[in-house]
Amino acid sequence: MTVTWTSGYDITEAVPFVEWGEKGGQRLLAPAGTLTFDRTSMCGSPARTVGWRHPGYIHTSFLKELWPDSPYTYRLGHRLMNGTRVWSKSYSFKASPYPGQDSLQRVVVFGDMGKAEADGSNEFSDFQPGSLNTTYQIIRDLEDIDMVVHIGDICYADGYLSQWDQFTAQIEPIASRVPYMIGLGNHERDWPGTGSFYGNLDSGGECGVPAQTVFYTPAENRAKFWYATDYGMFRFCIANTEEDWRPGTEQYKFIEQCLSSVDRQKQPWLIFLAHRVLGYSSCTYYESEGTFEEPMGREALQELWQKYKVDIAFYGHVHSYERTCPVYQSQCVVDGSDHYSGPFQATTHVVVGGAGASILDSEFTTSKIQWSHFTDFDHGFVKLTALNHSSLLFEYKKSRDGNVYDHFTVSRDYRDILACSIDNCPRSTLAS
Ligand SMILES: [Fe+2]
Repeated sequence: MTVTWTSGYDITEAVPFVEWGEKGGQRLLAPAGTLTFDRTSMCGSPARTVGWRHPGYIHTSFLKELWPDSPYTYRLGHRLMNGTRVWSKSYSFKASPYPGQDSLQRVVVFGDMGKAEADGSNEFSDFQPGSLNTTYQIIRDLEDIDMVVHIGDICYADGYLSQWDQFTAQIEPIASRVPYMIGLGNHERDWPGTGSFYGNLDSGGECGVPAQTVFYTPAENRAKFWYATDYGMFRFCIANTEEDWRPGTEQYKFIEQCLSSVDRQKQPWLIFLAHRVLGYSSCTYYESEGTFEEPMGREALQELWQKYKVDIAFYGHVHSYERTCPVYQSQCVVDGSDHYSGPFQATTHVVVGGAGASILDSEFTTSKIQWSHFTDFDHGFVKLTALNHSSLLFEYKKSRDGNVYDHFTVSRDYRDILACSIDNCPRSTLAS
């Protein structure tokens, strides 16, 4: 388990650490590293000018050799140079399951949440009116959530750096209890002339640095920010749409490596996530692109999703909810349904970018789109529940009331994962 926090102490002023252990058991000390960044790491204005504020010191500690599923408690400490120790309050978490372990595992997925003030103070443009409702619903259900994945457009600080502290304070009740994994979005990364795949101004000059420093992810290179992560029977492959993903790139190699390197008997539930819609969206923005996707998205990747039998691909960026039928090459391989069973046929694509940011720019086309099975023009998020190796439950909940408005289940044995459907079995020989 990785623990990250922010303080005002540089390493010359205090030694950061975590005191932790099994609930009621012996206390251990784990060292923490310290990172920061300064104005010269910002790529432009406002992050480098009027939006700049020193982020303080960001401490990260790794708690290792955890007993699967066991409850732990921890608190953050600093040993000052005069020997005094200062402490945070005490927090708790449950250790992750062993990869492949058969137990109940529940993961919440959403994009584009952002932040707001409960009392309405300090609002600038009120661009994320749904974010508090989403945060409250997740906190309310936290006893029954094991992990959260926020796929890009994290806090919309857009170069006004103090807003990162506002956002992390808002999610602290969640992120101090369960793993809070993030992907990068345009509002974290994009800036002209900095190697982002899109040359727009959406990060307000941050060019990825605050997100990549405040949030630890198990990426080989935190500046690239694509990574694989396992949770029990799940394998998550988290891509970064703000860097090139096309065949021949470093990221494409990572995506294939992540999808191909999982033992599906042990981890049957294979999930792909990315911020922009690389698969399918029938919102008017992507309709006007003429593609119903981010151009060069599925053309580059659908072969991989199909070959490696990706169950669900999640996206944000569009601030509403949409679920497709199991779809390949723009055709429903089977009709959209609330229950799928038997051999894998094709990937279900889900846009779940309605966690907070304004839905007003994310209307759906009025044309009839064959692969679009369910749409909801509202704020919401998804909860995935792996009941065991053969049963997965998918639920879409509205942020306003936490109730389920769309759902489906998958029932599939291991032989159904091995079974061949379109374009996804290696060649076999006729010899017997
Ligand atoms: Fe976005």
